[in-house]
Amino acid sequence: CSSSEFTSVISGARMASQRQNDSSAGYQPLFKSFATDAIHVGSEPEQWNSRAVVPPISLSTTFKQHGPGKHAGFDYSRCGNPTRSCLERAVAALDGAQYCLALSSGTAATLTITHLLKTGDGILCMNDVYGGTNEYFSKIAAEFGLDVSFADLTKLELLKAALKANTKMLWIETPTNPTLKVVDIKGCADIVHEHNKDIIVVVDNTFMSPYFQRPLALGADICMYSATKYMNGHSDVLMGLISLNRDDIYERLKFLQSAIGTVPSPFDCYMCHRGLKTLHLRMKQHFKNAMAAAQFLEADPRVDRVIFPGLPSHPQHELTKRQCTGCPGMISFYIKGKLEHASTFLSSLKLFTLADSLGGVESLAEHPVSMTHVSVPENEKKELGISDTLIRLSVGLEDEENIIADLDQALAAAVSISKHIIFLHSLT
Ligand SMILES: *Cc1c(COP(=O)(O)O)cnc(C)c1O
Ligand SMILES: *[C@@H]1O[C@H](CO)[C@@H](O)[C@H](O)[C@H]1NC(C)=O
Repeated sequence: CSSSEFTSVISGARMASQRQNDSSAGYQPLFKSFATDAIHVGSEPEQWNSRAVVPPISLSTTFKQHGPGKHAGFDYSRCGNPTRSCLERAVAALDGAQYCLALSSGTAATLTITHLLKTGDGILCMNDVYGGTNEYFSKIAAEFGLDVSFADLTKLELLKAALKANTKMLWIETPTNPTLKVVDIKGCADIVHEHNKDIIVVVDNTFMSPYFQRPLALGADICMYSATKYMNGHSDVLMGLISLNRDDIYERLKFLQSAIGTVPSPFDCYMCHRGLKTLHLRMKQHFKNAMAAAQFLEADPRVDRVIFPGLPSHPQHELTKRQCTGCPGMISFYIKGKLEHASTFLSSLKLFTLADSLGGVESLAEHPVSMTHVSVPENEKKELGISDTLIRLSVGLEDEENIIADLDQALAAAVSISKHIIFLHSLT
């Protein structure tokens, strides 16, 4: 065999072994130019007379007009702001979208999108969604005359059955919070658009970020985020984002954003834009660390069941690989035992912080049944699998061995209470 063939055999073998060790093997290929866009789109020095490399924070609420009604792109900061525009252009590029709007929180994005509907219109929502989204639809939107219904969208036949003549919006969250069910975005979008092409398909892409999933390319009309989580990524900004391609919906949302006033501050826009520039590096490492933690937990006899879309044991693992380029740092698992084992585990963690929220550089842990999902009715919790022993982790960017050591020692602490209980029983 010739020397060139020989090198190609070696490099082929090396590539195969790299691929085997690479947790992203089998997923969709990464989006082209993602890192370059994250760093440069919206940050072009040429847009400023000063040629600033980092967009300045533009705090002015009003802008000088050169004639009545004649301005250089901005008039009043609620309607438009230079720092906000920079962030919006960057996010649009990362989502492969034509337009983006930044809002004051993920919840403000949900509210603004829902204002596209009118009294009597139907909204069909994934049954397992962020607690605040469920609450907004069922306790507020329903009171304003929207016909709100929920269905398990992991089963496409249930989606078909749940569509009504008045359905105007489909709300998908994937993976869901906290049980990490994965919904087939393209499958859902095809079904509803066949039923009625005007139904607006919205995907809450908070858990995935555009690094792992681009809903617009899969047929969604609107992609929204709580940028409070991975997009900003440093647990220091509340922010919402909406990306889309449709001119008509954009025009209406742009009007709603300023008419309702759901806008973020220029400082928060600056912070979020800064966080976005390392999104690709953070997501890659979140995936790596979460994969290691999920494999550790799945092999551990003190754990009942691990839910992580990156594990082959996840019911929609194949769909995840078909739809995404990888998985974020979110893991849910059932600890063996009872409520007191989950509580002891959570209060014994040293590196993980016991706190709501997710998607920051630091590892967080929480107990959905008593924290983030406390407002979900009892019977729904039971149906969704939100039990006393369910624990949700947001695996951060610390060293893998420290993350695993912390989980290990907290599991040991949880097991030790069983021994303590048995000991107390043996005394009586
Ligand atoms: C946090 C979150 C929201 C709400 O966003 P806020 O920024 O807290 O208003 C919506 N959807 C998901 C999936 C979330 O995790
Ligand atoms: C892949 O993993 C195996 C076993 O863990 C190891 O021996 C090998 O060197 C790794 N290959 C690469 C390219 O990292």
